[in-house]
Amino acid sequence: METNTYTVPDITVRKNQGLTHAADFTLPQPLARYSTEDHQTWATLYRRQSEMLPGRACDEFLQGLAALDVDADRVPDFNRLNEKLQAATGWRIVAVPGLIPDDVFFEHLANRRFPVTWWLREPHQLDYLQEPDVFHDLFGHVPLLINPVFADYLQAYGKGGMKAKNLGYLPLLARLYWYTVEFGLINTPQGMRIYGAGIVSSKSESVYCLDSDSPNRVGFDLQRIMRTRYRIDTFQKTYFVIDSFQQLFDATAPDFTPLYHAVEQQGVLGAGEIEPHDRIFHVGNRVGWGDSTDV
Ligand SMILES: [Fe+2]
Repeated sequence: METNTYTVPDITVRKNQGLTHAADFTLPQPLARYSTEDHQTWATLYRRQSEMLPGRACDEFLQGLAALDVDADRVPDFNRLNEKLQAATGWRIVAVPGLIPDDVFFEHLANRRFPVTWWLREPHQLDYLQEPDVFHDLFGHVPLLINPVFADYLQAYGKGGMKAKNLGYLPLLARLYWYTVEFGLINTPQGMRIYGAGIVSSKSESVYCLDSDSPNRVGFDLQRIMRTRYRIDTFQKTYFVIDSFQQLFDATAPDFTPLYHAVEQQGVLGAGEIEPHDRIFHVGNRVGWGDSTDV
């Protein structure tokens, strides 16, 4: 989830030195700024994830990665990638300096434009980077955009975002983004699989979310998710599992306005809590949860 209540991180300032962006925060992808080291870092990240993800990421993600022909050995050229993406679902990616204000972010999504941070993390940040970079934004998010149902879901989310902001319910909608687009799991006939971008772009969480006994794995429930805090500083305490992208799209199609009121009445849940009506896939043993704070 993008938010504008933060200080711009040093790395974002450094990477964007001398660059300017338009009012909608887009800029031409500065291809000449990628160093040989950047391309090597991309290749390392790509290899690590693509070796591990078969059997872990959902088929739709893996098919998207292949169909878009995302470069394995260098940071992709956004224009080249857009030719295939646009032809498939009408989405395209736009380069941005980093995190952008909520309303700008929603406006892009509502118009089937996915903002992608243009710069790449540094070699010592292979395993963790607090802010999104081109690997997270592109490798993590873009392959699913050629899935027609997911593509429509993300556009609907953008439209809903402006509305939630005006109603003052953005934190509730942000939880939906977090527990689906970023950290969602999907139950398939072959077993549980990953579709969340925050997971597929992370080597350690790609293993943890499916293999560890620590976290809860609970069936998708829109109101339940909107009540649930999340943690941004380490692995999730709870993952929510959808049955299909169609389920996700259908559940989120109605107007959320009455839902926000209902959710507010029900009260907030901690990230690791289990509720009596939860559809349980796994109750976490809570090992290693520590005392990190939920947002
Ligand atoms: Fe993301």
